[in-house]
Amino acid sequence: MSAEIRVLDHPHESGQALRIFGRAMVGLAGINQLDPERVLEPGRFLGAVESGTAGSGTAGSDTVVGGADSYTSWLAVPGGNRVPHAAVTHVGVLPTHRRRGIVRRLITAQLEDLARRGEVVATLRASEATIYGRFGYAVASSAASIEILSARAGLLPTVPDPGPVRLIDDDPDSGALTREIYSGARWAGAIDRPDGWWNLRDLQREKQSTPTYLVAFEEDGVGTGYARYQPADPAHWFTSDRREVVVDDFVANSDKAYLALIRHLLSLDLVDVIIFASRPLDDPLPILLKDPRAARVRSVSDETWLRIIDVEPALAARRYGAAAPVTIAVSDPLLAGNNGTFEVGPDNVRRVDTAPDISVDVTGLAATYLGGTTWQHLALAGVATAHTDGAAGRADNLFGTTRLPHSGTIF
Ligand SMILES: CC(C)(COP(=O)(O)OP(=O)(O)OC[C@H]1O[C@@H](n2cnc3c(N)ncnc32)[C@H](O)[C@@H]1OP(=O)(O)O)[C@@H](O)C(=O)NCCC(=O)NCCS
Repeated sequence: MSAEIRVLDHPHESGQALRIFGRAMVGLAGINQLDPERVLEPGRFLGAVESGTAGSGTAGSDTVVGGADSYTSWLAVPGGNRVPHAAVTHVGVLPTHRRRGIVRRLITAQLEDLARRGEVVATLRASEATIYGRFGYAVASSAASIEILSARAGLLPTVPDPGPVRLIDDDPDSGALTREIYSGARWAGAIDRPDGWWNLRDLQREKQSTPTYLVAFEEDGVGTGYARYQPADPAHWFTSDRREVVVDDFVANSDKAYLALIRHLLSLDLVDVIIFASRPLDDPLPILLKDPRAARVRSVSDETWLRIIDVEPALAARRYGAAAPVTIAVSDPLLAGNNGTFEVGPDNVRRVDTAPDISVDVTGLAATYLGGTTWQHLALAGVATAHTDGAAGRADNLFGTTRLPHSGTIF
């Protein structure tokens, strides 16, 4: 039986789809306990629905067998502009219904829906790296987990001291304060954290007994950064000879906030190791230290999988290096409106009718969009084809950024 793809407009159905996601993910804890009305955004969950089947629901009624959800959001692009963005999540198909093309139909319908909504890009976090490339998604930012050995992590005497942080974990307004601070995030790769995201984090913390600490930095009375941290192994904390603290949310909207928060974390008594769960690959931390080897990258993983929904406004929104324009022919097998040739320069992006310097499919374009992958590497991989001498290098002069993109938000 072929399932119908449609919006799940009743909380009962979207709740069913959320539980399918939990089941499909196998090892994710707590999904079944979530209240759909608290964590989902109405009208955005697409479902594959079989009518009149028993399935996992009631005989004779519609049964959801798969789903693909998203949140209304923004994505910050190089230069700090924000574009309308869909944060795609809760993609899952019942194990009894896999490999029948259900997710292909769901994701295709979702891309068309996002285009109709005027959203310019979509991003997601991928459970497996082999699923989403076929739908035009590519890795646009990566994240490093960085470990600092506190005892060896003295700061260089040249590192400025912007002043103290404020301890806000007991502040009744700390939730509002962190949301307010995060609303200023404009680094390339940052995304909006909608209410459902914050609610989910609150619910997860309410359930755990591990103490969590929150510090904020303010400039002229305005919060510009915060860090949230907790012990990695509280059960053995007292006797441990390697006390680890995990910083699971680190938000710095200015260099001052970054330095003040780092100073605070490095000054914590008792702590042997500080683990930053997710930082950009080019985080300056080692450069600040007298002993740069006190900072070690524990792991690197792909972070933002990005899909360009509307190429022209996406390209027009970001900033480019001061270099000569390049013409790029883009092909998109799923969203026909994206096919075309675009002249991209620091002052202007426009559709043109001329022969391109480079050809790429929409997946390759997604990889370079935030500056996380070079055109020269795409050309090396055969993902982009340069038609004129040095075109990939010239495109890198435009698309290259001084800081690598990073999101820092898991969803
Ligand atoms: C991943 C998942 C959603 C795929 O659903 P599905 O309905 O079986 O997928 P489809 O039958 O529509 O397959 C579409 C294409 O993706 C491929 N594909 C599907 N799942 C894949 C996987 N896990 N790894 C690699 N390729 C996969 C199929 O081979 C097919 O390829 P083709 O159309 O190019 O020939 C489903 O297996 C699932 O629920 N997995 C567990 C939950 C999960 O990982 N969700 C993603 C969260 S980010």
